[in-house]
Amino acid sequence: MARVKKHIKSPGLAGVIVADSELSYIDGLAGILRYRGYNISDLAQHATYEEVVHLLWFGELPNREQLEALKIRLIGERTIHHGVLTLMSAFPTWPEPIEVLRTAVSALSSYDSESEVNSPDANLRKAIRLVAKMPTIVASYCRLRDGKYPLSPDPTLGHAANFLYMVSGEKPSALKEQAMNMAMVSMSDHGLNASTFAARVIASTLSDMYSAVTGAIGALKGPLHGAANRGSMEMMLEIGDVTRVEEYVEGALISGKKIMGFGHRVYKTMDPRAINLKAMVEALSQNDSYAKWGRLALRINEVVTTQKGLNPNVDFYSGAMMYLLGLSLDVFTPIFACSRVAGWTAQIMEQYNNNRLIRPLATYIGPEEREYIPLDER
Ligand SMILES: CC(C)(COP(=O)(O)OP(=O)(O)OC[C@H]1O[C@@H](n2cnc3c(N)ncnc32)[C@H](O)[C@@H]1OP(=O)(O)O)[C@@H](O)C(=O)NCCC(=O)NCCS
Repeated sequence: MARVKKHIKSPGLAGVIVADSELSYIDGLAGILRYRGYNISDLAQHATYEEVVHLLWFGELPNREQLEALKIRLIGERTIHHGVLTLMSAFPTWPEPIEVLRTAVSALSSYDSESEVNSPDANLRKAIRLVAKMPTIVASYCRLRDGKYPLSPDPTLGHAANFLYMVSGEKPSALKEQAMNMAMVSMSDHGLNASTFAARVIASTLSDMYSAVTGAIGALKGPLHGAANRGSMEMMLEIGDVTRVEEYVEGALISGKKIMGFGHRVYKTMDPRAINLKAMVEALSQNDSYAKWGRLALRINEVVTTQKGLNPNVDFYSGAMMYLLGLSLDVFTPIFACSRVAGWTAQIMEQYNNNRLIRPLATYIGPEEREYIPLDER
């Protein structure tokens, strides 16, 4: 007699472990996040995004020589094929940058002769291409829809600074570069979050890396995941003034509205990524014309935490920070994608290295067995 397996049901897969991973360690109760053993706070304050990419892909922080080698490879892959630019300017309307990113990343595979080669070396090369090209896609599209020519990447600039340059045409100040780098490091990996899980599900079918990253962008795009950074800034703009915070938050909570940028599936204390970003928002707000937004963010944090016991997550302060960097709201989630792609690709490669098809079950709650009724008798 066949043995009946006992299945455990977990809506939203909460608490279910589906993989071993060497990438992110998260303790949601203690508020700890480490990438391969390194505390997120140390990395966010001291490491460049490129160092973190090396750490995630190769397991160790690079020495100077290794870092130079990786930077050269990334810089060499920053440009995008003119076919991708043509595609981006050919849409009948100007869609959201996140939709364009999703479509353009999918299209990248058509310009990569290795797109269907699933060897570890080819996958590393594809990971380099994705990390290098995604910021160029986002920045180029921002300029195209504003009626400007896309800029060529600047090989003298690091990953974060080059992105800001390609969007605005101006080399960022040291503080702005540090802020952008901190945001990118803070968002580069985070265990089996929804988009990373989506990427792993796709990779587990042995589909290609471009497909997996395209699917991940689709998952990140949702307001309960990566789009919360934009949602939180929209809320700040709607509130508009620090005197209106209490009234707004109270009203939102009474009507059962979710406050974007607060709460987390895993963290039950302050999201450790939000701590440094909060300090950076305060630093960027020193400029008088922006000080109001920094004060507003801090007040919202205070009121929501006191009234509902909810802490801010990475999206709350990264949203405010990107606004203070002068970036438009609809580019916040694409920047999250450009940061998280380091983790997605690392996790996809980890999945390929120890693969088992991811295939959960559902409890059937539909009708009992019934007889087929011919069309004319229905
Ligand atoms: C992230 C999120 C989806 C986690 O969801 P979850 O683990 O399924 O937690 P739940 O939605 O079950 O929340 C548990 C309780 O806290 C409340 N809650 C959670 N986040 C809240 C928020 N941002 N605003 C108001 N209430 C919130 C829920 O309403 C629920 O209350 P209840 O027990 O009285 O019904 C949720 O916190 C959320 O929607 N946050 C806003 C979106 C966001 O910032 N996403 C980015 C995450 S990094």
